[in-house]
Amino acid sequence: MLINSQPILFSAIQPSGKLTIGNYIGTMRHWSNMQNKYECLYCIADLHALTTINKKKKIKNEILDTLALYLACGVDPNKSIIFVQSQVYQHSQLNWILSCFSKFSELSRMIQFKVKRKQNSAENSNIGLFNYPILMASDILLYQTNFVPVGKDQKQHLELTCSIANRFNLLYGNVFTIPKPVISQNGSKIMSLLDPTKKMSKSDINKNNVIFLLEDVSSIFSKIKNSITDSDNPPKIYYNTNKKLGISNLLEILSAVTNKKINILEKELNGVLYSEFKNIVSDSISKFLIKLQKSYMIYRNDECFLKKIIQNGAIKARLKSQETLKKVYSAIGID
Ligand code: TYM
Repeated sequence: MLINSQPILFSAIQPSGKLTIGNYIGTMRHWSNMQNKYECLYCIADLHALTTINKKKKIKNEILDTLALYLACGVDPNKSIIFVQSQVYQHSQLNWILSCFSKFSELSRMIQFKVKRKQNSAENSNIGLFNYPILMASDILLYQTNFVPVGKDQKQHLELTCSIANRFNLLYGNVFTIPKPVISQNGSKIMSLLDPTKKMSKSDINKNNVIFLLEDVSSIFSKIKNSITDSDNPPKIYYNTNKKLGISNLLEILSAVTNKKINILEKELNGVLYSEFKNIVSDSISKFLIKLQKSYMIYRNDECFLKKIIQNGAIKARLKSQETLKKVYSAIGID
């Protein structure tokens, strides 16, 4: 049962493409424990995914894949509200209203938009990509959210969310709670394996840059073996994101999949060669993925159960979000 006096926590993932170990480490790995401290809402952001997916069957399957992964990571439908964004129409309604309180100039400054614009030509960029952070603000603000656990790449979107909420509150009183991002010190930006200066991303064309949560573990060894480290002589394994990008990235991954602190790992790995270090990392990732995938398969094979979770989650999320939407309508005088 949800206890209403707990602070509210909201997070979401787009069900586009296969989720990566970066998604897990940056956010999902914290979700299970958070259920004991907060009233949690975990959303599957399928409307956001429409900016890049347009195939009906693909998105339907990816929603179920994502949900089964949430459950495999320990999200419990009896403790948290798990729901699909498109099934709670309040998100789209608040999205329009908040668009009228957002500035073209501030959206144009969003780094993720600029990156995506570079990837697509101007003619092929849809307006959804531009509007994307406003829908994200709507997701968060509808639930009077206190905390939002995300990776570092979402920080700017959360800052924008706060600006929009503050602007609205200044005009109409305290309608929205101002949310705080929860970005962990380690693992909030897992980098690409072959280029540790850029973020590991599920949309990367080169799949050797990425470890997917559902990939066959037989490919892990070669991906890690080919990952970029450095040519320090003698080789030294320690955490320093200025001098040792590749090694620090592998240490962050190792720390997350083994649940060991980085300073403990540094001691254990003192004097170990890079080749041996990479074997340890591959082995630990593989063990972690095998366990996760086993649990995932059990949930994924029970579509009836998954669909029931989605139905129940939508009912609960609609009730909660309607309270805020009503307040917003009344504040602006369209109630
Ligand atoms: P998405 O689907 O791109 O990513 C989901 C979450 O994973 C984190 N993440 C990473 N963390 C560490 N290292 C990486 N390489 C890495 N790649 C991704 C992201 O920071 C994110 O936390 N717009 C969001 C989804 C969303 C949302 C929201 C999130 C929609 N509404 C409301 C929070 C609150 C997105 O596209 O995330």
